[in-house]
Amino acid sequence: MKLKIAVLPGDGIGPEVTAQAVRVLKVVAALHGHAFEFEEWPVGGVAIKQEGAPLPSSTLDACLSSNAVLLGAVGAPEHDKLAPEARPEAGLLALRNALGAYANLRPVVAYEAISECSPLRPEIARDADILIVRELLGGLYFGQPRGFDSEGASAFNTMRYSATEIERIAHIAFKAAEARRQKVTSVDKANVLETSQLWREVVTRVAQEYPGVSLEHLYVDACAMHLIMDPLRFDVILTENLFGDILSDEAAVIMGSLGMLASASIGGAVGLYEPVHGSAPDIAGQGVANPLGAIASAALLLRHSAQLEQESREVEAAIRAVLDAGYRTPDLYRGPGKRVVQTSEMGSLVVEAFSDIANQRHAYHAV
Ligand code: IPM
Ligand code: MG
Repeated sequence: MKLKIAVLPGDGIGPEVTAQAVRVLKVVAALHGHAFEFEEWPVGGVAIKQEGAPLPSSTLDACLSSNAVLLGAVGAPEHDKLAPEARPEAGLLALRNALGAYANLRPVVAYEAISECSPLRPEIARDADILIVRELLGGLYFGQPRGFDSEGASAFNTMRYSATEIERIAHIAFKAAEARRQKVTSVDKANVLETSQLWREVVTRVAQEYPGVSLEHLYVDACAMHLIMDPLRFDVILTENLFGDILSDEAAVIMGSLGMLASASIGGAVGLYEPVHGSAPDIAGQGVANPLGAIASAALLLRHSAQLEQESREVEAAIRAVLDAGYRTPDLYRGPGKRVVQTSEMGSLVVEAFSDIANQRHAYHAV
């Protein structure tokens, strides 16, 4: 299989974690006989520095002519004073929009090996397996009008959703639930917001096409509580853009570290894959960032943009094996008996574990 991957390392720890994800993908290609081509392009703060814009047109063109985009993180403190449309984050939002990536999938899996990293009691978080399906191109992030009034004394954003936007993301959630545990929790604020009333109405209608999947509605405030009181009650969480942004960081508590969370943004012609964490400028350049969220995002790329399900599972199994063997980046370290490793060593360990898993499979098939 041939695949052209645009790599956008971005800011802060972005380049460090992305480098490990690319390493893993290269080994996947080598061991399974695929031809993956990688090309790096600037986005975010580095792109502002190099080219004066957070999403240069050369970067966008390269993404649009690739099969998939792998992104690190964007955001840099030196740009904190800029207007929203000029900030590094604006580059990421414009990219999601240009790619038509309206469906953001964020799997939350509680790994047994690092259960001590979660402040939740093991019996509460253990075995949690949730897929957050976040609408990515609507709501407050993109609604017009937005801005400051002339005096700067007030500011406004618009939350807007069309039935079509809600419908298409609802189908993604119900289809995902069909292949999982057949439950969708739709999250809104229908006791206050018109957009949420429409959301509820459309999701209820779409649910009728999936008789095997049960649907519950939750208000976002209640969902935020249930998510950490009783994560096991959730299978697929379907929600709008900002609620999904907030709930997915909260869900990181279940996994034990934001560094573990991966995401796929799909629905358009080209899929975009990025860890959920930010650029973490406080630890950038130290070689201590956790690359597993980025590597798990590469696994999602294999699944959704390359239809390489087996390879994707092998990468996920390799992540699990490395954690089971006791290796920890500092964010996951909770005491004796475990080995603390740096970003690149964690990458090497995943590569080794993946090679073992893939070779075992080849040996099995050769018998
Ligand atoms: C995320 C991030 C982004 C978002 C930022 C960096 C624009 O927080 O992917 O969750 O808000 O969507
Ligand atoms: Mg976020």
